[in-house]
Amino acid sequence: MYRIDIMTLFPDTLGDMLCESILGRAQERGFIRIECHQIRDHTRNKQKQVDDYPYGGGKGAVMQADPLYHCWNHICTEAGERIHTIYLTPVGQVFRQEDAKRLSTDYDRLILVCGHYEGVDQRFIDECVDEEVSIGDFVLTGGEIPALAVADAVCRLVPGVLSDPECFINESHWDGLLEHPHYSRPEVWHDRPVPPILLSGHHANIEKWRRKQSILRTRNRRPDLYERLDLSSKADLKLLREIAAEEIEG
Ligand code: ADE
Repeated sequence: MYRIDIMTLFPDTLGDMLCESILGRAQERGFIRIECHQIRDHTRNKQKQVDDYPYGGGKGAVMQADPLYHCWNHICTEAGERIHTIYLTPVGQVFRQEDAKRLSTDYDRLILVCGHYEGVDQRFIDECVDEEVSIGDFVLTGGEIPALAVADAVCRLVPGVLSDPECFINESHWDGLLEHPHYSRPEVWHDRPVPPILLSGHHANIEKWRRKQSILRTRNRRPDLYERLDLSSKADLKLLREIAAEEIEG
Protein backbone atom coordinates (compact mmCIF):
# COMPACT_ATOMS: atom_id res chain seq x y z
CA MET A 1 0.00 0.00 0.00
CA TYR A 2 1.22 3.51 -0.88
CA ARG A 3 0.88 5.95 2.00
CA ILE A 4 0.90 9.75 2.08
CA ASP A 5 0.84 11.86 5.25
CA ILE A 6 -0.11 15.50 4.83
CA MET A 7 0.88 18.09 7.46
CA THR A 8 -1.60 21.00 7.36
CA LEU A 9 -3.55 23.58 9.34
CA PHE A 10 -6.75 22.36 7.55
CA PRO A 11 -6.85 18.57 7.91
CA ASP A 12 -10.66 18.30 7.85
CA THR A 13 -11.13 20.18 4.59
CA LEU A 14 -8.34 18.23 2.91
CA GLY A 15 -9.52 14.91 4.35
CA ASP A 16 -13.03 15.49 2.97
CA MET A 17 -11.67 16.07 -0.53
CA LEU A 18 -9.47 12.99 -0.38
CA CYS A 19 -12.38 10.73 0.56
CA GLU A 20 -14.24 11.58 -2.64
CA SER A 21 -14.00 10.15 -6.10
CA ILE A 22 -11.20 7.92 -7.39
CA LEU A 23 -8.82 8.53 -4.47
CA GLY A 24 -11.60 7.81 -1.98
CA ARG A 25 -12.39 4.52 -3.68
CA ALA A 26 -8.69 3.62 -3.87
CA GLN A 27 -8.42 4.23 -0.11
CA GLU A 28 -11.47 2.08 0.63
CA ARG A 29 -9.98 -0.69 -1.51
CA GLY A 30 -6.66 -0.47 0.32
CA PHE A 31 -4.39 0.54 -2.58
CA ILE A 32 -3.46 3.85 -0.92
CA ARG A 33 -3.84 5.56 2.42
CA ILE A 34 -3.76 9.32 2.92
CA GLU A 35 -3.69 10.75 6.45
CA CYS A 36 -3.98 14.44 7.30
CA HIS A 37 -2.25 15.76 10.43
CA GLN A 38 -3.11 18.99 12.26
CA ILE A 39 0.18 20.84 12.82
CA ARG A 40 -1.49 22.83 15.64
CA ASP A 41 -1.85 19.61 17.67
CA HIS A 42 1.94 19.55 17.98
CA THR A 43 2.45 22.99 19.53
CA ARG A 44 3.86 23.29 23.05
CA ASN A 45 1.96 26.47 23.98
CA LYS A 46 -1.58 27.00 25.34
CA GLN A 47 -2.66 29.23 22.45
CA LYS A 48 -1.65 26.54 19.95
CA GLN A 49 0.21 29.23 18.06
CA VAL A 50 2.16 27.95 15.05
CA ASP A 51 3.55 31.21 13.63
CA ASP A 52 5.53 34.24 14.73
CA TYR A 53 7.07 37.44 13.36
CA PRO A 54 10.00 37.17 10.97
CA TYR A 55 13.47 37.93 12.34
CA GLY A 56 14.92 40.84 10.42
CA GLY A 57 11.48 42.43 10.01
CA GLY A 58 9.05 42.41 7.12
CA LYS A 59 5.38 41.69 6.53
CA GLY A 60 3.48 38.58 7.52
CA ALA A 61 4.29 35.73 9.83
CA VAL A 62 6.53 32.70 9.55
CA MET A 63 5.52 29.16 10.55
CA GLN A 64 7.79 28.14 13.40
CA ALA A 65 10.13 25.17 13.12
CA ASP A 66 9.16 23.47 16.39
CA PRO A 67 5.46 22.55 15.82
CA LEU A 68 6.36 21.41 12.30
CA TYR A 69 9.22 19.33 13.65
CA HIS A 70 7.10 17.62 16.33
CA CYS A 71 4.34 16.84 13.81
CA TRP A 72 6.92 15.48 11.33
CA ASN A 73 8.64 13.45 14.02
CA HIS A 74 5.34 11.99 15.18
CA ILE A 75 4.68 10.72 11.64
CA CYS A 76 8.24 9.37 11.21
CA THR A 77 8.23 7.63 14.60
CA GLU A 78 4.95 5.97 13.73
CA ALA A 79 6.49 4.79 10.46
CA GLY A 80 9.60 3.49 12.19
CA GLU A 81 11.76 4.93 9.44
CA ARG A 82 12.51 8.19 7.72
CA ILE A 83 10.10 8.92 4.90
CA HIS A 84 10.61 11.12 1.83
CA THR A 85 9.48 14.60 2.86
CA ILE A 86 8.27 17.23 0.40
CA TYR A 87 7.59 20.87 1.23
CA LEU A 88 5.15 22.59 -1.16
CA THR A 89 6.44 26.07 -1.96
CA PRO A 90 6.47 28.48 -4.89
CA VAL A 91 10.29 28.53 -4.64
CA GLY A 92 10.58 24.76 -5.26
CA GLN A 93 11.35 22.88 -8.47
CA VAL A 94 8.32 22.85 -10.78
CA PHE A 95 6.44 19.53 -10.55
CA ARG A 96 6.14 17.54 -13.77
CA GLN A 97 4.64 14.20 -14.78
CA GLU A 98 8.10 12.58 -14.57
CA ASP A 99 8.24 13.62 -10.88
CA ALA A 100 4.87 11.97 -10.24
CA LYS A 101 6.24 8.80 -11.83
CA ARG A 102 9.50 8.97 -9.83
CA LEU A 103 7.68 9.51 -6.51
CA SER A 104 5.27 6.68 -7.21
CA THR A 105 8.04 4.18 -7.96
CA ASP A 106 10.98 5.27 -5.74
CA TYR A 107 9.01 5.55 -2.45
CA ASP A 108 6.04 3.98 -0.74
CA ARG A 109 5.62 6.71 1.86
CA LEU A 110 5.61 10.47 1.43
CA ILE A 111 5.13 13.35 3.83
CA LEU A 112 3.70 16.50 2.23
CA VAL A 113 4.18 19.70 4.25
CA CYS A 114 1.73 22.55 3.60
CA GLY A 115 3.00 26.01 4.49
CA HIS A 116 0.98 29.13 5.21
CA TYR A 117 1.65 32.78 5.96
CA GLU A 118 4.94 33.99 4.49
CA GLY A 119 6.63 30.60 4.61
CA VAL A 120 8.22 28.27 7.12
CA ASP A 121 11.36 28.64 9.24
CA GLN A 122 14.28 27.62 7.01
CA ARG A 123 15.76 25.46 9.80
CA PHE A 124 12.82 23.02 9.60
CA ILE A 125 13.40 22.75 5.85
CA ASP A 126 17.14 22.20 6.33
CA GLU A 127 16.60 19.52 8.96
CA CYS A 128 13.61 17.55 7.68
CA VAL A 129 12.77 18.29 4.05
CA ASP A 130 14.18 16.19 1.18
CA GLU A 131 12.62 18.06 -1.69
CA GLU A 132 10.90 21.42 -2.31
CA VAL A 133 8.17 21.35 -4.95
CA SER A 134 6.17 24.08 -6.71
CA ILE A 135 3.12 23.29 -8.83
CA GLY A 136 3.70 26.25 -11.15
CA ASP A 137 4.81 29.83 -11.53
CA PHE A 138 2.05 31.39 -9.48
CA VAL A 139 1.54 31.96 -5.78
CA LEU A 140 -1.27 30.41 -3.75
CA THR A 141 -2.28 31.24 -0.17
CA GLY A 142 -1.11 27.88 1.15
CA GLY A 143 0.30 24.50 0.26
CA GLU A 144 -2.97 22.55 0.53
CA ILE A 145 -4.00 22.78 -3.12
CA PRO A 146 -0.43 21.93 -4.26
CA ALA A 147 -0.39 18.96 -1.83
CA LEU A 148 -3.69 17.70 -3.26
CA ALA A 149 -2.31 18.07 -6.78
CA VAL A 150 0.86 16.12 -5.96
CA ALA A 151 -1.01 13.43 -3.98
CA ASP A 152 -3.50 12.99 -6.83
CA ALA A 153 -0.82 12.85 -9.56
CA VAL A 154 1.23 10.28 -7.60
CA CYS A 155 -1.65 8.10 -6.36
CA ARG A 156 -3.25 7.61 -9.76
CA LEU A 157 0.01 5.96 -10.89
CA VAL A 158 -0.07 3.45 -8.02
CA PRO A 159 -1.07 0.04 -9.47
CA GLY A 160 -4.74 -0.72 -8.82
CA VAL A 161 -5.85 2.89 -8.32
CA LEU A 162 -7.00 3.31 -11.92
CA SER A 163 -8.97 0.41 -13.31
CA ASP A 164 -7.04 0.32 -16.58
CA PRO A 165 -3.33 1.21 -16.94
CA GLU A 166 -4.16 2.25 -20.55
CA CYS A 167 -5.68 5.29 -18.88
CA PHE A 168 -2.29 6.84 -18.35
CA ILE A 169 -0.12 5.36 -21.07
CA ASN A 170 -1.46 7.55 -23.86
CA GLU A 171 -2.34 10.69 -22.03
CA SER A 172 -0.89 14.16 -21.88
CA HIS A 173 2.69 14.45 -20.66
CA TRP A 174 3.32 10.72 -20.32
CA ASP A 175 5.55 10.61 -23.40
CA GLY A 176 6.04 14.36 -23.72
CA LEU A 177 3.12 14.74 -26.16
CA LEU A 178 -0.16 16.48 -25.38
CA GLU A 179 -3.21 14.28 -25.78
CA HIS A 180 -5.44 14.33 -28.87
CA PRO A 181 -9.00 15.77 -28.67
CA HIS A 182 -11.90 13.55 -27.54
CA TYR A 183 -15.46 13.25 -28.83
CA SER A 184 -18.56 11.42 -27.59
CA ARG A 185 -22.23 11.20 -28.60
CA PRO A 186 -24.12 12.76 -30.33
CA GLU A 187 -22.48 12.69 -33.77
CA VAL A 188 -23.53 16.30 -34.42
CA TRP A 189 -23.85 18.80 -31.58
CA HIS A 190 -24.70 22.49 -32.14
CA ASP A 191 -23.95 21.97 -35.86
CA ARG A 192 -20.51 20.61 -34.98
CA PRO A 193 -19.89 17.14 -36.44
CA VAL A 194 -17.44 14.61 -34.97
CA PRO A 195 -14.36 14.25 -37.27
CA PRO A 196 -15.52 11.58 -39.78
CA ILE A 197 -12.40 9.42 -39.34
CA LEU A 198 -13.52 8.59 -35.78
CA LEU A 199 -16.71 7.03 -37.16
CA SER A 200 -14.88 4.98 -39.79
CA GLY A 201 -14.10 2.00 -37.57
CA HIS A 202 -10.62 1.85 -39.13
CA HIS A 203 -8.48 1.55 -36.01
CA ALA A 204 -5.06 2.00 -37.60
CA ASN A 205 -6.15 5.19 -39.35
CA ILE A 206 -7.78 6.48 -36.17
CA GLU A 207 -4.56 5.91 -34.23
CA LYS A 208 -2.58 7.75 -36.91
CA TRP A 209 -5.05 10.66 -36.85
CA ARG A 210 -4.83 10.86 -33.05
CA ARG A 211 -1.05 10.85 -33.08
CA LYS A 212 -1.05 13.59 -35.73
CA GLN A 213 -3.41 15.68 -33.59
CA SER A 214 -1.12 15.15 -30.60
CA ILE A 215 1.92 16.26 -32.56
CA LEU A 216 0.12 19.35 -33.90
CA ARG A 217 -1.23 20.31 -30.47
CA THR A 218 2.16 19.94 -28.85
CA ARG A 219 3.87 21.99 -31.57
CA ASN A 220 1.26 24.78 -31.43
CA ARG A 221 0.58 24.92 -27.70
CA ARG A 222 3.81 23.81 -26.06
CA PRO A 223 6.85 24.53 -28.28
CA ASP A 224 9.02 23.88 -25.20
CA LEU A 225 7.83 20.25 -25.07
CA TYR A 226 7.88 19.91 -28.85
CA GLU A 227 11.57 20.77 -29.00
CA ARG A 228 12.39 17.80 -26.77
CA LEU A 229 10.31 15.23 -28.69
CA ASP A 230 11.83 12.35 -30.59
CA LEU A 231 9.83 12.10 -33.81
CA SER A 232 12.47 10.21 -35.76
CA SER A 233 10.56 6.94 -36.24
CA LYS A 234 9.51 6.10 -39.79
CA ALA A 235 5.84 6.46 -38.88
CA ASP A 236 6.31 9.85 -37.24
CA LEU A 237 8.42 11.17 -40.12
CA LYS A 238 5.58 10.20 -42.44
CA LEU A 239 3.09 12.03 -40.23
CA LEU A 240 5.35 15.13 -40.23
CA ARG A 241 5.50 15.04 -44.05
CA GLU A 242 1.69 14.78 -44.17
CA ILE A 243 1.34 17.72 -41.77
CA ALA A 244 3.73 19.83 -43.88
CA ALA A 245 1.85 18.91 -47.09
CA GLU A 246 -1.54 19.73 -45.52
CA GLU A 247 -0.23 23.07 -44.33
CA ILE A 248 1.05 23.98 -47.80
CA GLU A 249 -2.35 23.02 -49.25
CA GLY A 250 -3.88 25.34 -46.65
N1 ADE B 1 2.43 27.49 -2.02
C1 ADE B 1 2.01 28.67 -2.50
N2 ADE B 1 2.09 28.71 -3.83
C2 ADE B 1 2.59 27.50 -4.24
C3 ADE B 1 2.91 26.92 -5.48
N3 ADE B 1 2.77 27.56 -6.64
N4 ADE B 1 3.41 25.66 -5.50
C4 ADE B 1 3.57 24.99 -4.35
N5 ADE B 1 3.28 25.49 -3.14
C5 ADE B 1 2.80 26.74 -3.07
